[in-house]
Amino acid sequence: MPRITYITSDEQLHTIEVKNGLTVMEGAVQNDIPGIDADCGGGMACATCHVYVNEEWIDKLPKKEDGEEDMLDMAFEPKKNSRLSCQLIVSDQLDGLVVNIPTKQS
Ligand code: FES
Repeated sequence: MPRITYITSDEQLHTIEVKNGLTVMEGAVQNDIPGIDADCGGGMACATCHVYVNEEWIDKLPKKEDGEEDMLDMAFEPKKNSRLSCQLIVSDQLDGLVVNIPTKQS
């Protein structure tokens, strides 16, 4: 199973195995990773699943859809490497992905 590392704002690393087909957000919620509330349940309508992906992963992830970009504009301190974790579907290609959770969400 792909391993995803979530880094919380207090610099704690949480590396967990997430089943293929789940989203990075679902992996966090199911494993009680603090800071990913996912208030809309993955509907791309809340931005409480906002993460910063590790720089080396930016180009390896599927491109953002328009709706994701719009929602990220409303997120806390969006950056070039911001993504909605509910839009990142876990697959073997994502094995080793590292995401940082913004401070405001913790
Ligand atoms: S869970 Fe709401 S936008 Fe991702």
